[in-house]
Amino acid sequence: MKKLLVANWKMKPTTLADVELLTRASDAEGVVLAPPFPYLDFVKKMARHAELCVQNVFFENPKNGGAFTGEVSCAMAKAMGATYAIIGHSERRQFLRESDAMIARKVAVALEAGLIPILCVGEGHEVRHRGEAQAVGFVGMQLMTDLSLLKNEPSELIVAYEPVWAIGTGNNATPEQASVMSNAIRKAISTNHPSLRLKVLYGGSVNAGNIAGFARERDIDGFLVGGASADAGEFPKLISIIHNL
Ligand code: 13P
Repeated sequence: MKKLLVANWKMKPTTLADVELLTRASDAEGVVLAPPFPYLDFVKKMARHAELCVQNVFFENPKNGGAFTGEVSCAMAKAMGATYAIIGHSERRQFLRESDAMIARKVAVALEAGLIPILCVGEGHEVRHRGEAQAVGFVGMQLMTDLSLLKNEPSELIVAYEPVWAIGTGNNATPEQASVMSNAIRKAISTNHPSLRLKVLYGGSVNAGNIAGFARERDIDGFLVGGASADAGEFPKLISIIHNL
């Protein structure tokens, strides 16, 4: 199975000309593009091979929309052509105080709306410093709450293990650490959802120099890439490494 490459552009690029450049450079099979909301339609119309993802959704999806200024519903994301939704990214947990309770609602409405959630979990520096067992326990607790509101048995889910200390820092986890965590995530979820099609991704300072090491790990099904995915020079290198595995 080919590993999935999800490009989380975060709040980049800042010009439409650069969005065009980046989309051209990133448009390939097995790639999922997560641009900022204003660029969704533009990217959707340009991309021939890549699938589309939103970086967030609101935790309610009322049939006729609602009075939630600044928010975007799952129905809108679907209508714009998104297949996936990143939910619970650590930057939103940190800067927007998104709680696991909110994230649980988002995961539930996304699945109901037919979007595939890319649920982000991961421990911070302090927890990691206390050891691997603590990190597994911390992520296990996140998963338990984040998946607590599912109404029906989901058929497909993606979990991204993104240790907070590895995001945007250049301090990537080792492939072994990422593999242990991915395995623990898989076990925790498959106990309660045996028939679920689950992919576990790694994210945190992934680049062309280190991706091959992670890709060799059987428990890692792909990558959620931040900085390197918004770089039109770097991302094609990641694509070609993954395609040539
Ligand atoms: P970096 O690849 O920049 O560390 O970001 C990872 C990330 O947050 C992807 O969602």
